Amino acid sequence: MTPHATAPAVPRPTTGGATRPPTILALNGSERADGNTAAVLGHVAELAAGRGARLEVVHLAQHTILPCGTCGDCNLKRTACDVTDDVPGIVARMTAADGIIYAAPVHGFGMAETMQRFIERAGVGHLRFRRPLTNKVAGVIVTGRRYAHGDVHAQLQNNVLLNRMLLVGSGFPALVQAGARGDWRHDREGMDTVFRLTHRMIDMIELLRDYRRTTGRDLPVPHQNERALR
Ligand SMILES: Cc1cc2nc3c(=O)[nH]c(=O)nc-3n(C[C@H](O)[C@H](O)[C@H](O)COP(=O)(O)O)c2cc1C
Repeated sequence: MTPHATAPAVPRPTTGGATRPPTILALNGSERADGNTAAVLGHVAELAAGRGARLEVVHLAQHTILPCGTCGDCNLKRTACDVTDDVPGIVARMTAADGIIYAAPVHGFGMAETMQRFIERAGVGHLRFRRPLTNKVAGVIVTGRRYAHGDVHAQLQNNVLLNRMLLVGSGFPALVQAGARGDWRHDREGMDTVFRLTHRMIDMIELLRDYRRTTGRDLPVPHQNERALR
């Protein structure tokens, strides 16, 4: 039996009381807290407010997120990463939200480094033990000038699925073409995908709340960590 087979059962996601407005936590993975990605998320916040929901944005660039060290023992440890920075606090905020949006620009045909660093530290160092994001409603938004948006979207989507979140289909993926500052405003089709994503996420959060309230039940959560197979 591997160490992971005895990991504690997955906790029920913390979704809060039904009277609390639906809350979506968005991670901005750009190194700029005032760039196109932030502006797109500002638009999401307005849409959410129109639905009585709340969008909180964590601009990762404003936090201390250290890179992985040389220890390399994450896959063997049964305890969270020892590095002291803002990652555990951000993970706690994600755990408290109803929905999660990963938003990141394309850099060098891949994911911007700030988001990549967070995904590595949070995923292997904290999320993998109990998968506390299970059944959160999730969305992915990618900004970039023109190239490789789909690759970054696929990577973030895999992270959503790994963490057992619920990815809502909303039409074309939310990919926004924006090179220079402010370009996001001119990509009508891209912003339409963001509009649809936001509404579908809130629809699904409300549906899950109704289900929980009327049935007193929750979506089942898997009891065993998939790492137990290794
Ligand atoms: C270092 C760097 C690399 C980039 N690489 C790409 C790329 O491969 N493909 C692309 O479409 N845009 C690329 N861009 C453009 C950004 O994705 C685009 O300007 C985006 O709107 C930036 O988002 P932000 O304003 O939120 O930082 C790159 C920008 C920088 C600074």
